[in-house]
Parts: sequence; C-alpha cells; structure tokens
Amino acid sequence: MNNNNVNFRVFPGGNLQGVARVPGDKSISHRSIMLGSIAEGVTHITGFLDAEDCLATLNAFRAMGVEIEGPKQGEVIVHGVGLHGLKAPNEPLYLGNSGTSMRLLSGLLAGQSFDTVLTGDPSLSRRPMKRVTEPLRQMGAVIKTSHNGTAPIRVRGSGPLESIHYDMPIASAQVKSCLLLAGLYADGETSVTEPAPTRDHTERMLEGFGYPLRREGNRISVCPNGKLIATDIDVPCDISSAAFFMVGAAIAEHSDVTLLHVGVNPTRTGVIEILRLMGANIEIINQQMVGGEQVADIRIRTSHLKGVQIPERLVPLAIDEFPVLFIAAACAVGETRLSGAGELRVKESDRIQVMADGLQSLGVHAIATPDGMVIQPRQIKGGKVDSHGDHRIAMAFAIAALRASGPIYINDCANVNTSFPSFVNIARSLGLNITVCAE
Ligand code: S3P
Repeated sequence: MNNNNVNFRVFPGGNLQGVARVPGDKSISHRSIMLGSIAEGVTHITGFLDAEDCLATLNAFRAMGVEIEGPKQGEVIVHGVGLHGLKAPNEPLYLGNSGTSMRLLSGLLAGQSFDTVLTGDPSLSRRPMKRVTEPLRQMGAVIKTSHNGTAPIRVRGSGPLESIHYDMPIASAQVKSCLLLAGLYADGETSVTEPAPTRDHTERMLEGFGYPLRREGNRISVCPNGKLIATDIDVPCDISSAAFFMVGAAIAEHSDVTLLHVGVNPTRTGVIEILRLMGANIEIINQQMVGGEQVADIRIRTSHLKGVQIPERLVPLAIDEFPVLFIAAACAVGETRLSGAGELRVKESDRIQVMADGLQSLGVHAIATPDGMVIQPRQIKGGKVDSHGDHRIAMAFAIAALRASGPIYINDCANVNTSFPSFVNIARSLGLNITVCAE
C-alpha cells in the first residue's frame, strides 16, 4: 500500500533535451495479463509496465491460480489456464488505486462459477462502479456494492450470463471492455455501442489471441464458446506517460525531445491532435505496426502555443492527458476552453477541481466548470500544490516548473508509482530539476 508522504520539489526553469523511452502502456499491460491468463498456452509479454496498477492485476490472477513468471525487465510469462480454468481466490482481491483492474475484472468474474470480492484503496473505493454493475446485472450477474454503488464489489459466481445489447450512456473503454469480457461467458451474442470512440485495446488484443469479434461502426459484438490462443505481446510505451515530456518540451525554451516506441493507436492520440491545434511542433517518425498496435517515435520541440477551444470529439481520445494539457494551456497565449469532460471529475481525483485549485495557487487564472475548465494563461509562480494522491496531477505540476518563476512543491506523490515509477529518473535525465523528499 502507498504511504502519502512522498513530495516533489521542482526547481524552476531549464529545458528538456534528449531521447527517452517511457515505460509500457498501462491499458495494454493490464489486458495482456487478463487475456493471457484465460488463454490456452503460454503468453510471452515484453515491455510490460512494472507499476503498482498492473501488478494489482497480475497478483489478482496469481491469486486465482494462474502461474505468472516475472515481471523481470518488462518480461512476463503467463501460463494460461483457459476460459474456464480460473480458481476461487482465498481472500478478497485488493486492486489498490486501479480502476481498470476493478472494472474489467468485474466483467470477467461475473461469468465464473466462484465468488469473489474486489477491494481498493480510498480513492478507488470512492469511484463510481454502477456503470459496470448495472449492465452486468442486466446480464443476470449477482453483484453487490456499497449502498452508493462503490467498492467493495462482491461478485457471486452464478454460471452463464444472459447476452444483452448495451447502449453505453458514457464513452468509457473500461465499461466497454468489462462487458466484452463478460460476453465471453454469456449464452449468446453480447454487443455494446459506444457514444464516441474510446481506446480499443481490448478489441485488438482479443483479435490478437484469435478470438472472433465483430466491429460495425460504433457497435462491437462477441459470442461465447470461442477460445483464446496464447501469443506474444510487445507492449508499446505509454503515450499517457510520454505526454508529460511532450508538453514539457513544447513549453520550455530550447527543448528538443524524442520519445521512442510510443503507442500511437488512433484511439489514444488526442493529446497529439490537441497540442498540434495549439501550435506544437510534433513529428511522428518510424511509424509501424507491432502486434496489432501502431507504434512510432515522437519528436517534439519548443513551440509557441496558443489557447484553443478543445473539440469535444477529442475528449475520450485524450482523457488521461488533461492534467498536463492544462499546464500547456497555462503557458499558451490566449484562453483555452474545455467542455464535455465531466468524466475528469471521477478519475483518481476530481481532476477538474484539483487542477483548477493547483493552477490558481500558482497564479494562473483557471475556472472550473461542471464539465471542463477555462484557463487564461499567466506567469506560473512558485508555490505549493496538493496532488490529492493522484499520479497524473503530481507529474503535471512537476512539468509546470519548467515555466515557473519559483520552485513548485507537490505533496502526496507516492502514487506516481501506480503508472510511472521511473518518472523522476527519466525527467531528470531529460533536464528537469526535480528532487524527491520523503518525510
Ligand atoms: C482505461 C480507460 C479510461 C482511462 C483509464 C484506462 C482503460 O477510463 O481513463 O486510465 O484501460 O480502459 P474510462 O474508460 O473510465 O474513460
């Protein structure tokens, strides 16, 4: 479990220069363990994200009897047990800070023949779970949550589920993936339609494991009784981690950074599109397909950013990158407006309020709205920021120091280990003047 007494102290100014390889993609790493575990045969994973969130998923499958070797320098070997080979865990599955683990596992476990309990840390225990438990109940799953629809989630193993069609009210890859995984255990075809495109790693990886899937427009369908055949997975580097250095290089004078082997699946590249709308100088080099996912090197240099109205269609495609995009907006010329992003309020923290509060405490004019933010750039001052234990808030404010007039102190940063344990080392190697103080 995390303690919350790790703080960052980041000295102002400087620039970012060099070449870096950020760690593996978090979404793809979770799915590689889940699908590898229910596949037949041995799955070899390279580039796995060795961070707390993905280890929560890995440990959950170990607790359900799956033999998993590693992670060792990003290599993991999963000895798949097949769709019906998981075993009842001896105790509740503790999923830490990881919403992806909890929501995807709810679907996968609803179709098992044994009972499970899913728990998490205080942040995860506040996050909404009805978005998955309601459609799963429509499929006949027997699931209990706390009275306000949050974890712990108790899943009763009740045999085959009923297939449904679900018209998703929110654009969420976690809900979509949860229902597709439940659909593997249903009595007929399960389909979902999404109101806007969201990351499609589950669909791509199911196909990579040889599991048939139908995609027609915004509708995705799976049938039961297929099987997953073990395969090799090369996890690309996480564009959500790369985003911190993309923004850092764009806002700091004399910067030039190249990020290698980054996943540029078009359902994840909203951050590139938004930064380009703001005028950023970004080059995509060496683009290639690696195991069903697009991968490229991204070069980004100092840019004179301008404020924009962020198109709502890009919101789900950049959903995790808004904390650092708000920093870019604070350093631009002219106002930036974001709307249609109410989902940010139910992430690891309320990312609209927490970012607006942090920016204001550094002298930036940031007004939170119910579903977004209006930012009028100002000189970023030094000061103290509360990250509320949210990894992406902590890393975003560290990057802000590149354009600050005094040091920025960020508290409660231990959860950076949930997604990017090497953040401080890579940031330093590129030129950020950051120190870690453990109290
Ligand atoms: C994720 C989907 C997104 C994202 C999260 C990872 C996934 O959540 O914010 O960090 O791996 O499917 P939502 O589906 O809730 O938008």
